[in-house]
Amino acid sequence: MKTYSVAVIPGDGIGPEVIRESLKVLKTVEEIHGGIRFTYDTFDWNCAYYLKHGRMMPENGLEILKDYDVILFGAVGDPSVPDHISVWELILPIRREFQQYVNLRPIKLLRGLESHLRYKNHEDLDFIVVRENTEGEYSSMGGRMHSNTPHEMAVQNNVITRFGSERILHYAYQLAEQRSKQRLTVATKSNAINHTMTFWDEIVKEVGADYPHIDTELYHIDALAAYFILKPETFDVVVGGNLFGDILTDLGAAMVGGLGLAPSGNINPEKNYPSMFEAIHGSAPDIAGKGIANPIAQIWSVSLMMDHLGHPDLGKLILDGIEEVVAEGEVRTPDLGGNAGTESMGNAIVSKIKELA
Ligand code: NAI
Ligand code: MG
Repeated sequence: MKTYSVAVIPGDGIGPEVIRESLKVLKTVEEIHGGIRFTYDTFDWNCAYYLKHGRMMPENGLEILKDYDVILFGAVGDPSVPDHISVWELILPIRREFQQYVNLRPIKLLRGLESHLRYKNHEDLDFIVVRENTEGEYSSMGGRMHSNTPHEMAVQNNVITRFGSERILHYAYQLAEQRSKQRLTVATKSNAINHTMTFWDEIVKEVGADYPHIDTELYHIDALAAYFILKPETFDVVVGGNLFGDILTDLGAAMVGGLGLAPSGNINPEKNYPSMFEAIHGSAPDIAGKGIANPIAQIWSVSLMMDHLGHPDLGKLILDGIEEVVAEGEVRTPDLGGNAGTESMGNAIVSKIKELA
């Protein structure tokens, strides 16, 4: 029997609602497989916790999390706490301290759904974005000065390191090797950002020399954004820095049906630290408490978690269950044009997974 320890952080708003459904799926996977078991500890670190304790997690929060195999994260954010506090003090420290330098985001149009892009179907929309998750534009280097004067200014430095770039590029190339098109698309902007992005391009060339069989294309980010819309069928693995990757993946999510369908993994490939799996979406205060959030993004994140733990067969089973329910079209949450609630959608996926197993 293989046991995995899971730290669960449901967070705020719809976070706990979608986490509940994803835990049902994990339980189903346990029943089906028989040889694996999950143990859970749930942490109430969220905005309510902040209002009570003045911080998003305890001082030794990372120490507490560090020995888990994985972290399952819902979403944080509540109007009572500024977003830069809830995000900077909970999610970003976990990503950074645990060297979750890969942010993995599949962009895949499920069978039975229509893309907002006319003339594109599910065969055209199936690629994966690898976003650098620890440096780049989201660095903490910088500052403000001359506050409250006419000369007030702010600087936030874009930090690109050789170490950080090499490791994300190796990861992306190795992922491309496992996929059908054998192609890696790289986001850059070296025509205008002439220090950091030219350095990035040089490292792409060096690392790419180790993967001569992979077809590498570099595109400037503005053109690449346009190609996402015009020719998504040409992509297989797309790699970009922190900011470009963030924007491209929200664009990708919109192309395949919206945030209710967009999963992600924050991955430490070496497994020196726990990796964290979460839906891309936030706490959705506008629909929180109504029981109508789409749990697919969170359940799909659990599928990515199974891949990471070395059970790609189970990851695929979960994704097949999701896709089959969506394709049948009888149970759909309001964001997909139906009137099912979060729980019925979760239950339908659980039944389908059992049926397919
Ligand atoms: P959001 O992702 O929470 O919501 C944007 C829109 O998408 C809303 O209309 C919402 O109802 C809809 N939506 C999101 N997830 C859905 C789902 N599963 N099913 C159906 N509809 C869904 O982004 P927003 O409104 O910008 O931010 C709300 C809060 O979430 C803020 O406090 C923000 O800081 C936080 N946030 C947290 C993230 C995280 O925990 N990783 C990521 C993004 C935002
Ligand atoms: Mg984003």
